[in-house]
Amino acid sequence: PPVSLIGVPTDVGAGHRGASMGPEALRVAGLGEALQARGLQVVDRGNLSGPFNPWQPPADGYRHLQQVVAWNTALMHATAAELAAGHLPITLGGDHCLAVGSIVAVAQHCRRAGRKLRVLWLDAHADFNTSQITPSGNVHGMPVACLCGIGPRELTHLGGDSPALKPDEIRQIGIRSVDEGERRLVHEFGLDIYDMRYIDEIGMKRVMEEALDGVDADTHLHVSFDVDFLDPGIAPGVGTTIPGGPTYREAQLVMEMIADTGRMASLDIVELNPAFDSQNRTALLAVDLVESLFGKSTLMRG
Ligand code: ARG
Ligand code: MN
Ligand code: MN
Ligand code: MN
Repeated sequence: PPVSLIGVPTDVGAGHRGASMGPEALRVAGLGEALQARGLQVVDRGNLSGPFNPWQPPADGYRHLQQVVAWNTALMHATAAELAAGHLPITLGGDHCLAVGSIVAVAQHCRRAGRKLRVLWLDAHADFNTSQITPSGNVHGMPVACLCGIGPRELTHLGGDSPALKPDEIRQIGIRSVDEGERRLVHEFGLDIYDMRYIDEIGMKRVMEEALDGVDADTHLHVSFDVDFLDPGIAPGVGTTIPGGPTYREAQLVMEMIADTGRMASLDIVELNPAFDSQNRTALLAVDLVESLFGKSTLMRG
């Protein structure tokens, strides 16, 4: 299907300014051209618009909740429109709070069509905080909890029904930073988390086989790619670097194995922060990995 790029220049959910420059950095790194070179039809919808970052301290446990809701509402509608048109939407973030809007739209699309949904959450963080347990108040640390039904009503009910997502529809890969209260909560909800220790022990190939198990012709696969998933040695251009992430080779394998399923139907690329990058290298790396996600490989396979 045609691919639609939706720029969402936000950092209202983050603890550092600069992820709002992410969409343009991805374009400058040649994302659109790289996808076209894969034979895809690419439509760039430009950037959504929304409120600026007021840079306020948390109120009732949330920073900038009103602004986060406004941006997510816009993204939800934009994503829904692309899915309805049969396009494959790519969110160019922006911070990870945006996954609420994109995934609510994807989940509704799947429910209507009677399709199964599998979300792959590639991240250093579980993003399962609540206003009670968050160490920061930053909403980019909360989207998975919101999607699973806990959080502010404006976000848990963004698409009307709540929860948007059942915990068994999501698999988290690359996790290596979970806050104290968050750890208890992900356990309580039974989230499937492939943390770095598990990846070290069984290897990325088996991790991906497990994470993709059950994905079939009737499954809509959504990939939420937080660029801080990658080891900071190769991907310094993010606000929240956590050491000990997947290597270049491991990350390539993740993308290739997702591509092999042929089921990816929507994608977020988030948390790229050019203010922390050097010479756009992290954006270039993201584009390189996204090419693999869309099936680029050295040899013909299968
Ligand atoms: N766990 C931390 C917090 O809640 C960091 C979250 C980082 N999330 C992200 N999408 N980069 O503040
Ligand atoms: Mn579909
Ligand atoms: Mn994240
Ligand atoms: Mn993260």
